[in-house]
Amino acid sequence: MAVQIITIDGPAGSGKTTVSKALAKRLGWIYVDTGALYRGVAFEVKRTGTDYNNDIALGALLATLSLELATEEGVLRLISSGCDITDQIRTPEISMLASSVSAKPRVRAALLEMQRVIATKNDAVFEGRDMGTVVFPKADHKFFLSADLLTRAKRRHSESAGQSLCEVEKDIAKRDKNDSERKQAPLKAADDAVLIDSTDLTVEEVVSRILHEIGQ
Ligand code: DC
Repeated sequence: MAVQIITIDGPAGSGKTTVSKALAKRLGWIYVDTGALYRGVAFEVKRTGTDYNNDIALGALLATLSLELATEEGVLRLISSGCDITDQIRTPEISMLASSVSAKPRVRAALLEMQRVIATKNDAVFEGRDMGTVVFPKADHKFFLSADLLTRAKRRHSESAGQSLCEVEKDIAKRDKNDSERKQAPLKAADDAVLIDSTDLTVEEVVSRILHEIGQ
């Protein structure tokens, strides 16, 4: 039987991750955080000192890249060449670098393949920026989450140590711009996605709305 796919796209802080995790748990499906994969590439770019604007250097890094998502006690871990880098990919620096490297066509091509392979095996909720538009245009159900900038910044600020609310807000606005204005697979809602503004909704309310939309 064919696997079922739900895609949830949206900008940083729109609630994608929390909602996708809760939804996958309710459905008994796996949850795939594709942003973690882009963060993994950014981490390796930094660790190896690769000039990602140099196509040959970037190609060489991608040829040796070995990223794997694993779930441990309900927590999604990112493994790069055997090393668990989960705790190192959520810094403001890696967030911004992930946004920059994700605009590179070579990076997107490498991760596109990886994401589609994961989708051959399990019913899954995939969250990211281009899940409904590019990676899974034929997904069973598509959603696009949004929320106003200040609300998104407040959500991220409560999770991140060391940055002021104003800095978080500026970083998110910059990433929104990078991610939506890039040529390849920009952040945007698929024409057939259901749009949900989560500004004044709880996680449970968003999950209920999605379950209702998919007839569960
Ligand atoms: O969802 P996140 O904040 O962890 O994503 C980090 C960056 O990765 C984001 O700014 C843009 C990029 N990204 C992407 O280009 N495509 C995806 N499907 C997921 C993330």
